[in-house]
Amino acid sequence: MSSIEKSGTYTLGDRTVFRMGYGAMQLAGPGVFGPPHNHEAALAVLRAAVEAGVNHIDTSDFYGPHVTNKLIREALAPYPDDLVIVTKIGARRGEGGSWLPAFTAAELTQAVHDNLRNLGREQLDVVNLRLMFDMSNPAEGSLEEPLSVLAELQQQGLVRHIGLSNVTPTQVAQGRSICPIVCVQNLYNLANRRDDQMIDDLSRDGIAYVPFFPLGGFTPLQSSILSDVAQRLDVTPMQLALAWLLRRSPNILLIPGTSSVSHLHENLAVAQITLSGEVMDELEKITGES
Ligand SMILES: NC(=O)c1ccc[n+]([C@@H]2O[C@H](COP(=O)([O-])OP(=O)(O)OC[C@H]3O[C@@H](n4cnc5c(N)ncnc54)[C@H](OP(=O)(O)O)[C@@H]3O)[C@@H](O)[C@H]2O)c1
Repeated sequence: MSSIEKSGTYTLGDRTVFRMGYGAMQLAGPGVFGPPHNHEAALAVLRAAVEAGVNHIDTSDFYGPHVTNKLIREALAPYPDDLVIVTKIGARRGEGGSWLPAFTAAELTQAVHDNLRNLGREQLDVVNLRLMFDMSNPAEGSLEEPLSVLAELQQQGLVRHIGLSNVTPTQVAQGRSICPIVCVQNLYNLANRRDDQMIDDLSRDGIAYVPFFPLGGFTPLQSSILSDVAQRLDVTPMQLALAWLLRRSPNILLIPGTSSVSHLHENLAVAQITLSGEVMDELEKITGES
């Protein structure tokens, strides 16, 4: 059994994916803005991921913007039948790479069409609505309007499934009262455990939880406990952080980001790592580490 098969599977919408996937954000240029330093190297990472068995890739048309999706298309189209590409909408890039909200009906509709065009697909497998501000606060706008736009695009057949990103439990409940939600993508890792309860609640309801920044994102996880345990197990701290997430809950799907084929292979190998109950207890202490 390959390492990626060992990670197990989960049903995302109506498709089965391996729990170990790949996040494509790191393939754009510095600050997720503009083209990659090395175009061919970026294509190679995507091809290596799919060759190794990855069938769940996370992206957005606002990475670059347009850059990451075009790379995915160039590297992988015609796409393997089992490949699920998850994208997100709700933001746009300003001059210099700033991240701005894009929640009007026209912006959301445009974003879906941009994703379809740049990925070269007739339907988007999963679209996450990425919140940019607190939409459970009436002063900042309601979740109802943008989700209804997305649900309408789903009715038109342009979007297969809908997810939410950067949301609180209240917003998840709100969202689920408007349309079926197949996944939640929030910041979560060994050092950021705010969503512990949400993960367990979603797991009971068969909804995938997809942590972004599983390795700490722009500020890689740093912890003496993580380093010590990793050394003892003869794995890297980053591998240990991913192995912990795989073990944390069966509804967690991993999308670690990398622009390096060697890091990709290190990450895809983590399902081979066995974590004892004692090691899990030790790693629990990281949240409180100063
Ligand atoms: N919904 C949202 O708001 C949101 C926000 C951020 C990200 N995301 C998604 O989540 C995915 C994952 O997040 P992320 O890529 O930002 O952060 P991440 O996966 O936590 O970390 C990526 C960083 O870790 C490094 N890295 C990866 N594998 C490594 C390894 N084995 N050893 C050492 N360093 C390693 C990468 O550098 P190298 O390139 O050098 O390997 C990169 O700097 C993204 O790709 C994106 O699809 C979603």
